[in-house]
Amino acid sequence: MKVLMVCLGNICRSPMADGLLRKKVKEADLQIEVDSAGTSNYHIGEAPDHRMRATAKKLGCPIDELRARQFTVEDFDAFDLIYAMDSSNYNNILALSRNEQDVAKVKLILNEVYPGENRAVPDPYFGGEQGFIDVFNMLDEATDIVLNKLTNGR
Ligand code: 4NP
Repeated sequence: MKVLMVCLGNICRSPMADGLLRKKVKEADLQIEVDSAGTSNYHIGEAPDHRMRATAKKLGCPIDELRARQFTVEDFDAFDLIYAMDSSNYNNILALSRNEQDVAKVKLILNEVYPGENRAVPDPYFGGEQGFIDVFNMLDEATDIVLNKLTNGR
């Protein structure tokens, strides 16, 4: 199983989702590959935002090693599940889809926590520290559920 986390810049939300799920997969000794990407080309090659890295470290899931890349159409072939952080990311991904199979792989990550509500993981980039803490906590909860679903075969 291969899971891709996607946001706009790939320097705040999706690397945090990636780092959290990676850590949980490793701790559970599972064969699940995790990666992340951004729909934009704004931050290609960069480490996650220093504020996201600081919060990640403080809360026990450092993400210093991750580097931003842009989502490409090949990701539809490489991954089984593609989680968007908000509906804008979701629409950007779907704009690149080629068929129904591609479309079926794409989900809003918070729908795992709040089914059918289409809630967003808010973009913390232009806000203060609390926004990064909130992102961490939302994604910690969501990735628990994702991991649970993957291990229970659903
Ligand atoms: P992310 O946050 O999508 O969670 O990585 C953002 C990072 C950068 C920008 C916007 C959002 N930006 O406009 O550069």
